[in-house]
Amino acid sequence: MQPAVVAAKDTVPDLVEIALSAQAVSAWYGSKLAIRDINLDFIRNSITALMGPSGCGKTTFLRCLNRIHESALDARTAGKVLLAGTNIYDADVNPVVTRRRIGMVFQRPNPFPTMSILENVTSGPRYTGMTNEPRELADLAEEALRRAALFDEVKDKLRDPALSLSGGQQQRLCIARALAVKPEVLLMDEPTSALDPLSTLKIEELMEHLAADFTVVIVTHNLQQAARVSHFTAFMLGDADRVGSVVEFAPTGEIFTHPKDSRTEDYITGRFG
Ligand SMILES: Nc1ncnc2c1ncn2[C@@H]1O[C@H](COP(=O)(O)OP(=O)(O)OP(=O)(O)O)[C@@H](O)[C@H]1O
Ligand SMILES: [Mg+2]
Repeated sequence: MQPAVVAAKDTVPDLVEIALSAQAVSAWYGSKLAIRDINLDFIRNSITALMGPSGCGKTTFLRCLNRIHESALDARTAGKVLLAGTNIYDADVNPVVTRRRIGMVFQRPNPFPTMSILENVTSGPRYTGMTNEPRELADLAEEALRRAALFDEVKDKLRDPALSLSGGQQQRLCIARALAVKPEVLLMDEPTSALDPLSTLKIEELMEHLAADFTVVIVTHNLQQAARVSHFTAFMLGDADRVGSVVEFAPTGEIFTHPKDSRTEDYITGRFG
């Protein structure tokens, strides 16, 4: 086989505890099946990359992991997603609480446009009832902004509109907003695809730190990025009916150096996708 395109991370976390487990997850848009029977475990404090060609269902799968998929018109899910052992699709589980515990960052930065930088970060803690006390909110915001590597750039203008920030800053603000409610899992859908190389680098550095406290799942089309930041990689592909599933899942170093499936190899060596 051809040499891997990039040097891959060769370490995996020592502690192997499953934070989130997708079990036989399928998802539909109306009558169209988009992803079929996905089984994946996400290890606590690890970063897992989801890769695959456009349209293979990466975003759909990610949105099933925190029950956002069901908010699309006519969308339906089957299977289980266990968060610390409890199925988030059980009838007595509140989806709002689930989405607090499993945060999400989207491809395009989407700060709340009418709010200030500070209000964006404190909105989650206020609406989920964590606290309404201004001092505590300020502390939570500072902690989240520091974690998102944005605090130093905004500390003197916290009351400025969120939209006065650059795109890369807005994306870090969205990461801070997701972190402020102290999630256990952070889902990131191509978080750097709209950003310049420097902002991308900042977010990649930040992800390394985030894994110390969170379990991270990131969708990326950037093979180098998957290799640089992730411990595990899942490769997804659509079949002839454009139904996506996982072809291969392994520690990232293995996927990039010894893929078991020829389709994974074709993808990482740039033969398709
Ligand atoms: N809201 C929707 N309504 C109907 N079909 C949809 C909807 N969103 C996605 N799909 C379909 O589901 C399939 C999977 O789409 P999805 O967005 O999950 O792919 P993806 O792997 O994230 O692609 P990309 O890399 O381009 O972001 C595609 O066939 C797409 O057309
Ligand atoms: Mg997508």
